[in-house]
Amino acid sequence: MSDPQSSALLTHDWTTGYPMTLRSVRLARLHVRRRLTMWNWPGDIEDAVLVTSELVANAVVHGRIPGHELRLRLLELDDGVLSIEVSDPALVFPAVRPRDLSERGRGLIVVRQLADSLDWFLRAGVGKTVRARLGAPKG
Ligand SMILES: Nc1ncnc2c1ncn2[C@@H]1O[C@H](COP(=O)(O)OP(=O)(O)O)[C@@H](O)[C@H]1O
Ligand SMILES: [Mg+2]
Repeated sequence: MSDPQSSALLTHDWTTGYPMTLRSVRLARLHVRRRLTMWNWPGDIEDAVLVTSELVANAVVHGRIPGHELRLRLLELDDGVLSIEVSDPALVFPAVRPRDLSERGRGLIVVRQLADSLDWFLRAGVGKTVRARLGAPKG
């Protein structure tokens, strides 16, 4: 099996699109809180909401291309790990850089602190996806 995810049972998988407007940030926060509550996800839902909020805001602010939408996917793996995936059409990768005392450039630093992993990849002909993974509490 070449796909590392294919051996893991997917327990929940949800995707939706949003317009490229800052109003989508608030909407995504509400949706994530509701989804994860419905799924009874065992991790910290407010952390997941905050991570989603930063990634969706970044798609709107840094990844906006007129006529395109952003997409949000929540994927819960059978070990309880939550994958938060936000896609936008801009072929530019995020840049995490430490910038203390600055209001800007802190979102992804917070995301990295809350998430177990943060990465990004191109999706041929469509744009890119920024992905954060949050673990469920151990034991
Ligand atoms: N979806 C994205 N598309 C393109 N560039 C991005 C995206 N997300 C983040 N970036 C880049 O990474 C930088 C760091 O992001 P972030 O830590 O959220 O800071 P901020 O959004 O406040 O500038 C951004 O300033 C931007 O240059
Ligand atoms: Mg940001």
